[in-house]
Amino acid sequence: MAKIIGAVTTSHVPAIGNAIAKGLQNDPYWRPFFKGWDGVHVWLEKTKPDVAVVVYNDHGLQFFLDKLPTFAVGAAPEYRNADEGWGLPTLPPYRGNTDLSWHMIESLVADEFDITTCQEMAVDHAFTLPLKLMWPNAEACPVMTVPVAVNTVQHPLPTPLRCYKFGRALGRAIESYDKDLKVVVLGTGGLSHQLDGPRAGFINKAFDAMCMEKLVGDPEALTRYSIDDLVEQAGTQGVEVINWLTARAALGGRVSEVHRNYHIPISNTASGIMVLANAA
Ligand code: DHB
Ligand code: FE
Repeated sequence: MAKIIGAVTTSHVPAIGNAIAKGLQNDPYWRPFFKGWDGVHVWLEKTKPDVAVVVYNDHGLQFFLDKLPTFAVGAAPEYRNADEGWGLPTLPPYRGNTDLSWHMIESLVADEFDITTCQEMAVDHAFTLPLKLMWPNAEACPVMTVPVAVNTVQHPLPTPLRCYKFGRALGRAIESYDKDLKVVVLGTGGLSHQLDGPRAGFINKAFDAMCMEKLVGDPEALTRYSIDDLVEQAGTQGVEVINWLTARAALGGRVSEVHRNYHIPISNTASGIMVLANAA
């Protein structure tokens, strides 16, 4: 059976892609961020996952405001990256696993989640950069992928409680797949940041620390926040933390914290990285 070995949660700032392209990993601005990935690499080297299920939000590359699904799951043989206008190099295509995708889709719909299924799906920086950071030396991403896009862009957004329930269903969907695959679930976005308006540049270190702490031992505590609470506490784009909650919920009960990094700022964002290993 497929087994969820753990979760990697991380911010997904486009400027990271430019730093990688320019080889700035040891630059004083970037070093504390890139060093924060060492612990992730040690864990990946030890656990060697076969598949990454990536919970992220699209920023207008695949979905635009005219049609924006609340939850969308990829079911394509491969997923292509494309120019979003950030000046990032386009990364090579990502291998899908259509059999696993359709199993997950069947399971999620049976579990009463009316998702959008995508047999073609372009993937943006929120999907590509975390995978590049996890396997920086691989020419192309070495694991199969299943993109899971959550709407964090156009309100109404799914509540943290809804995301938690969706994550639990995602976990059941993955672990009922009858092939021996090791699966890592990613949650990308956050932590606190606001890119626009009078509060542009807003960061909330105390709230981020609370989110990281609750994510480990008491993720249900985060389901008590509304989306408006998250906008207020974490910023308009800080709501992306619902992707972290979704990924954490896929792991179910007890987890152990393997690694954590927090660094302010990367671009406008409070950058957080966590590795949570599944206890079961
Ligand atoms: C930034 C952060 C994001 O999450 C994003 O999607 C784009 C930009 C930033 O801080 O620059
Ligand atoms: Fe984002």
